[in-house]
Parts: sequence; structure tokens; C-alpha cells
Amino acid sequence: MEFQTVAESPLSTEADLLVVCTYGDPTKDSLFQLVDQGLGGHLGERAQAEEFTGRPGQVLFSDRQGAGRARAVCVVGAGDMNSFDASRVRDLAANGVRVARRIGAARVVMALPPVSPRHSDRALQLAIEGAMLGSYRFNKYRAEESKRADPVKTVMLTFDRGRGGGKRGKQTASHGRELKASIQRACVVAEAVCHARDLINEPAAVMTPSRMAEEARGVAKRHDLTVKVLGPKECEKLGMGMFLAVGQGSEEESRFIHLTYTPSKKPKRRVAIIGKGVTFDSGGYSLKPSQAMEDMKIDMSGAAAVIASMAAIAQIGSAFEVHAIAACCENLVSGRAYKLGDVLRSMDGTTVEINNTDAEGRLTLGDAITYARTKIEPDQMIDLATLTGACHIALGPFVAGVMSDDDALAESWLAAAAAAGEDMWRLPLHWRLREQLKSPIADLRNTGDRYGGALTAGLFLKHFARDTPWLHVDIAGPASNAREFGAVPRGGTGFAVATLVEFLTRQS
Ligand code: BES
Ligand code: MN
Ligand code: ZN
Repeated sequence: MEFQTVAESPLSTEADLLVVCTYGDPTKDSLFQLVDQGLGGHLGERAQAEEFTGRPGQVLFSDRQGAGRARAVCVVGAGDMNSFDASRVRDLAANGVRVARRIGAARVVMALPPVSPRHSDRALQLAIEGAMLGSYRFNKYRAEESKRADPVKTVMLTFDRGRGGGKRGKQTASHGRELKASIQRACVVAEAVCHARDLINEPAAVMTPSRMAEEARGVAKRHDLTVKVLGPKECEKLGMGMFLAVGQGSEEESRFIHLTYTPSKKPKRRVAIIGKGVTFDSGGYSLKPSQAMEDMKIDMSGAAAVIASMAAIAQIGSAFEVHAIAACCENLVSGRAYKLGDVLRSMDGTTVEINNTDAEGRLTLGDAITYARTKIEPDQMIDLATLTGACHIALGPFVAGVMSDDDALAESWLAAAAAAGEDMWRLPLHWRLREQLKSPIADLRNTGDRYGGALTAGLFLKHFARDTPWLHVDIAGPASNAREFGAVPRGGTGFAVATLVEFLTRQS
């Protein structure tokens, strides 16, 4: 898929499909009105008949001739958008390109939604991301679909509302360069998101801890990053008793992955991003029921996000030294698996009594956080994990839970998420819940009560972060999806990649 910006009116551009992106009442949109005139009022009539009011995801399609030089036209809606909403802009483009795929359109002209000039670069970037992300398919295991190529070849984008001379009517050379940079950035982000989706969607039999390490090595090689992979012996030497216990029930060896990006100038900060990499979570002896286990190949979505975003960070460049850590293992049942009642010794010396082997993510992350804190000594640590069903229940499938006792870090992270168009919400690390993690025989136990389960998991991790500024993102809900919406496909979503890239490529 190739992207261009066009300065001329979308109506004078030759294309197989014209996508009119609107928000609010589509019939009040000036381009809608122009197209409708060209079609002799046909579009307005159809809108009435089909009750097309421009709700998010709604599409109005016509292949009648007369509206400019496009063979067909579709109008996509975003509902009311009172303020600029990144994810809605992305979804508009995704929904438009989905129509293009369906009708086999190779050349698409897309009239971007009318946004204020200060949002236009961002809208362009988001639309390109949406077009690419909405076209993502994981089809390699399907005989027919895997052979089918994406018909959409060229997407021409414009802010012009159809009368010629849009905001980008006159292009200076420097503006041309800015446009190129926006397009480039969007492609790099979308590719990283799609890479994360691929890693998540692969079955656990394929995406083992060793394979995750191979993927990280591939990213390092392609983008000139440093990579270090530790096996069980090296982890043992470092004293990672929690991480190793989780993986010890599997025939697949655990892998602890560490990727490093070093900027060419003296780094402003050192940041560690840490992903949960449980390549399959059966629950261990606290076995999950079959239905709850069905999708547990996605339990490495945090690791996929940190590994995939490093490629984008390397390509865009960051002012920070960025360390990506992925603690990868399988949580299985066997004669060697860890048991309830076991007492584990973590890398920082804390002893932990196991009262639930299904609360394995916090064990793997606890040691990963200690590794980051003591070996990297970062200014900030951010972990991403499909950590608790409780967070999924609290915030639903579209919103991640953010926990941190560092207000400044939480605010800057949430600002990056909003700009990147990923929905996240802060949850409290309530001190009274710490009580629940007390053990009669060890320093901690690994789970508390059912209520507030996302928060006790966060408090468990906080113990290992100590005084290093730290933020935890529970992505159990948005990491995977039962059915597609907007730019997000069924299956692994690649959630958090866009926010990571945004957060780490901002200058302050
Ligand atoms: N990987 C799961 C959490 C999860 C649930 C992710 C649903 C994605 C979708 C995690 O390891 C887990 O099993 N958590 C337990 C914690 C409990 C035992 C305290 C849970 O949520 O039930
Ligand atoms: Mn679990
Ligand atoms: Zn898990």
C-alpha cells in the first residue's frame, strides 16, 4: 500500500473509490453536499433510506457515476467528535479502506475529515495508520485467503473539501518534507503494530520463548540494536527464582530478552520498557478452565509490544536510551512445575509464597523489574502486561488500566496514549490492599482477594520497583479481541505499541 498527498480537489482525482470522511451530521459536510449534487440528490436519499446518520463505523456506499472522477464513493462517519479524537480518525480511514478492499479498488482517494490546521499533520498520520492497520489480516494458516493479495495499491489523501485549494493547496518545499515525514512515521508505527499482532496471533506451539528471542534478534539485526538473550542458566546465576519457577514446568526453555537502543547524541534519560511474555498460560496447577485457557497464547502481548516498538523507535529515533525487556516462558503443568505453597526467592531477595500458580505474570515481571532496576538503573520503568482478568472486568475490552504512584509519569504516559489514540485509564494503587499480600511464612504471597485484583497485582509489582519511577499498564482487556472494530482486527491487537512509540519519541 502506497500513500500520497494530493493538492487538487478529491472530485478531480481519478480513482476507483472516493472515501469521504465525516463526523457529526454527514449531510452538513460540504464535500458530502458536493458529491450529493453530482449524483442528483441520490446520496441524500440513500442516507435517509438507510438511516445513515454518520455513527462511528457506519458506511454509505454508491457506485453511481457523476460525483467527480471516482468510479464509486463511500461516506464514512465518526459520530460526534467535539474535540479531536485520534482513534476515531484512525477508524474512519480503516473503515473506508475496508470498503475499498471489498470492492477491489486499487486507487483510492480519501478526503480526510475537516480538522483544525494544528491537527492536520496528526490526522494525516492517523489516517495512514488506520488504512494500514484496518487492512491487517492474519491469514497464513488459511488456504484460500493466504493467496489473496490486498487489492488496494495507492491511497491519495487530501484535506480539500472538494472546491479546490484546500488547506494544503499550496505546498512549499519544507511542507512537502513535513508531509513525507508524517507518512513515513505512520508507516513505521503501523508496521510495528502489525508485527506485534503477528507475534500474538501465532499459536503458542510456534511462538515459544526461544522463537520470541529469535524475533528480538531479527529486530536487533534489521535496526542496529544491541540484543542480549539469557537462558535458564544465566537467569539462575542472577537469582531470578520467580521467573524461572513459572517456566520450570515446560519442556520449552525460558528466555529473558534485553534489547537496547542508544541514541547518537547523549541520551536525555534512560527508559526501560518491560513486557510480560508468557507464551502460553494454562494457569499451572491452579489450572484454568478450558474456555479461559483458549486464548492464552495472547499472554505475551506485552512482550510483543515492547519488542515490536523497538523497531519503530530505532527508525524514528529517540532522545532517550531505551531498553526493552521481555521475560518469556510458558506456564504449564508437569512433574517439574511449581506448586501451590512453594516459597520462591526473587532476584532482589524477597521470598514469595505461592497461593495461586495462575498469578504467574507478576512473578515473571517482578524479576524483570529487579533486573531493569539494578542492571540498567533507568530513570523510568514502564511495564506492560496481560496481567489480570480483574482489569478486563473493570475497564472492559477497549481500555487499559494504568497504575503508578508517580503522578508526573502517569500524566505524561496518559498524554502520549491520548495522542496515539489508545484508551487508557488510571487506577489507584490503594495502600490498604497491601495487607492482602502478606504471607505467614514468607515476605509476600502472590495473590490477594478477588476484589481489587488488578490493584493487588499492581501493588505486588510496585514492591520490586522500589524507588525507581515506575508505571504499570494492564492490557488484559484490549490485547486481543473477539471481533474487529475500526482499525482493530479480530485476535491480537498490538495494543500499546502506538503509545510506546509516541511516549519514547517525544522530546521531553
Ligand atoms: N494471563 C492472565 C490474565 C488474563 C485474563 C489475560 C484474561 C487476558 C485475558 C493472568 O496470568 C491470570 O491468570 N491472572 C489471574 C490472577 C488471579 C489468579 C489473581 C486472573 O486474572 O484470574
Ligand atoms: Mn495466569
Ligand atoms: Zn498470565
